[in-house]
Amino acid sequence: MKNIAVFTSGGDAPGMNACIRAVVRGALHHNVNVFGIYRGYNGMINGDIHPLTSQSVSNIIQRAGTILKSARSAEFRTKEGRKKAYEQLRAHGIEGLVAIGGNGTFTGAQIFYEEYGIPTVGAPGTIDNDLYGTDFTIGFDTAVNTALNAIDKIRDTADSHDRVFFIEVMGRNSGYIALRSAIGGGAEMAIIPEKPNSLDEIIEKLKTGWGRAKRSYIVVVAEGQQPGNATEIAQKVKKEIPDLDVRVSTLGHIQRGGSPSAVDRVIASRIGLAAVEALLSGKSGIMVGIVNGRIKYTPFKETFKQKNEQIAEMIRLVEVLSK
Ligand code: F6P
Repeated sequence: MKNIAVFTSGGDAPGMNACIRAVVRGALHHNVNVFGIYRGYNGMINGDIHPLTSQSVSNIIQRAGTILKSARSAEFRTKEGRKKAYEQLRAHGIEGLVAIGGNGTFTGAQIFYEEYGIPTVGAPGTIDNDLYGTDFTIGFDTAVNTALNAIDKIRDTADSHDRVFFIEVMGRNSGYIALRSAIGGGAEMAIIPEKPNSLDEIIEKLKTGWGRAKRSYIVVVAEGQQPGNATEIAQKVKKEIPDLDVRVSTLGHIQRGGSPSAVDRVIASRIGLAAVEALLSGKSGIMVGIVNGRIKYTPFKETFKQKNEQIAEMIRLVEVLSK
């Protein structure tokens, strides 16, 4: 393999740049040319493909976002789009790919690999931590720290006013950001998709918690869960317990920005280098992750499995420690 390419796709995540840097410098270390594909699969289709040098990735390890830009490509979901992408890769002499992204990125990579057989290795880049085959995805730790920072600040004002706050965090269909920031922020409750709560349960817990003379009460709500988003839940709660002084805060895209944490920079660097070396050693159709501190390869198809190992323990932590 003499020419490979790297791209980022889907929602950006802090640490993607550190991963790109590791892929580029890892490839150059092995005397392989490396190209950057800009704007994910859209760039592959449009031939937005350019050579990268060691200098191209200078001074980016500490920056969030992605220097290669990102996109969610509708065209790549079509056969015609993928054919165009294949032709562009051939025209540029690309023999292997490193795909940095999440679920959607790997779904695309798997289909493309089955159709055209271009060796592809994935790196888990998403704040959601929803990929099976790695303990942490790149960007998750920074997103949790950003959420925590916000929760700490909201706690200050919640405490002054004896208020209940529903704080909505990101995660698509995954409750990892919610659970981890709830534990770190000393929240009283976490509402997550993996273990849905009925409205009755939420109200019951709130009544008991408030009854214990709590002076502030933080509920971390994962987006994409039942019975509704943070605003909807808060409205229903207020209707049932009118005496509560309830507020809502939706953290949104701030969770995707900010300089990556040490954890994210280090795992991104390890995974990036391991991804290049896996590709050069003939591996394909796999994601490189880190499990129990060690590099692990997981077939793309398995990365879509739900990873629930730590969920029950984390829920218990929130429940026991908030009393
Ligand atoms: O997958 C990362 C993520 O930030 C999710 O947590 C969220 O649901 C989604 O992307 C938001 O996507 P967009 O930036 O396209 O609105």
